[in-house]
Amino acid sequence: MELQNGFDVNELFKAHAHIWNQTYNFINSMCLKCAIQLGIPDLIHNHAQPFMSLSQLIASLQVDPAKSSGIGRLMSILTHSGFFQKKKPQEGEEEAYALTYAGRLLVKDNPTSMTSSLLLSLDPIQMEPWHHLSTWFLNDDPTAYHTAHGMAIWEYASRNPKLNNLFNNAMLCDSRLMSSAMLHEYKRVFVGIDSLVDVGGGTGTMAKAIAQSFPSMECTVLDLPHVVAGLKGTSNLNYIGGDMFEAIPNADAVLLKWILHDWGDEECVRILKKCKEAISGNGKTGNNKVIIIDMVVDHQNKDHESVETQLFLDMLMMVLFTGRERSEQEWVKLFFSAGFSNYKISRVVGLRSIIEIYP
Ligand SMILES: C[S@@+](CC[C@H](N)C(=O)[O-])C[C@H]1O[C@@H](n2cnc3c(N)ncnc32)[C@H](O)[C@@H]1O
Repeated sequence: MELQNGFDVNELFKAHAHIWNQTYNFINSMCLKCAIQLGIPDLIHNHAQPFMSLSQLIASLQVDPAKSSGIGRLMSILTHSGFFQKKKPQEGEEEAYALTYAGRLLVKDNPTSMTSSLLLSLDPIQMEPWHHLSTWFLNDDPTAYHTAHGMAIWEYASRNPKLNNLFNNAMLCDSRLMSSAMLHEYKRVFVGIDSLVDVGGGTGTMAKAIAQSFPSMECTVLDLPHVVAGLKGTSNLNYIGGDMFEAIPNADAVLLKWILHDWGDEECVRILKKCKEAISGNGKTGNNKVIIIDMVVDHQNKDHESVETQLFLDMLMMVLFTGRERSEQEWVKLFFSAGFSNYKISRVVGLRSIIEIYP
């Protein structure tokens, strides 16, 4: 049936529902945040049986009795979005919930936990720039973060201990996951390297894991002074507070994990040139390389959700930083502009790759 203005009624209501769905997409994120803040995944994880009944959950949460029915509604949406599994109740049985595989990544005390990443991304400080995106398109600020907060994220973190902690904990949680996967599956990348600098290495989670796996390797973490302040090294790990645009200590290899996607092309070429100087400066040849852990965008061979996640992260890099996610072609342009002669990409499972580049 057609309406007077030429719209097909079915198409119209399908489009209407699609807009509702997209408008309220944030509810998925906010319910997830609420469940983590209430500690629901931890309570189910620590429960004696895999399934925890709704009334047991409510009792453990000590919610205001007037609001207890809301917990069932919260569990329904998070079951729908794949974090909990609902047991089909037998006659007379109450509904009960277990953690799915994704739900297990929301348990706080778990080496693969992603809770800190989520709490950073959904913190009001980090959400605020999204409200300024359209204004930013019309002004000359470098990022929407500047439009919202009047400064770059790194400066904000240096002035605001809460953001500094949130940011460093989120990086710690990602590096814990990535280092165990890397040192399990891709240990060969580090074999034969005597010294390594983890540039923008945060509080050193990745470098610590590498230093432990390779006790004869000298590892250095270079990051901004407010990030490494007060951190103590070990026999083969030390921290340097500095600026990667100014100087990077000499070493056989440089690691750049989740660094270059924060920056625009020109800044990346400057960082890569500094890395090239650092790996060429110790007079050794053979194992000199820069190891990049970042995303190589691929919209062709990925499923719908992975493509959407790549697009989300690209927008995030634009809103929070001056960066972007890059395709192989875009990466290669940077490597050659910075004077590197060759590269090798290992496509790690998930959305990130290891790229080794050679002088
Ligand atoms: C996205 S985080 C990645 C941290 C770490 N590599 C990881 O993956 O867990 C980017 C890091 O770059 C650091 N950073 C930003 N600007 C820097 C600069 N000019 N010199 C050195 N480090 C910098 C930040 O402090 C932050 O720790």
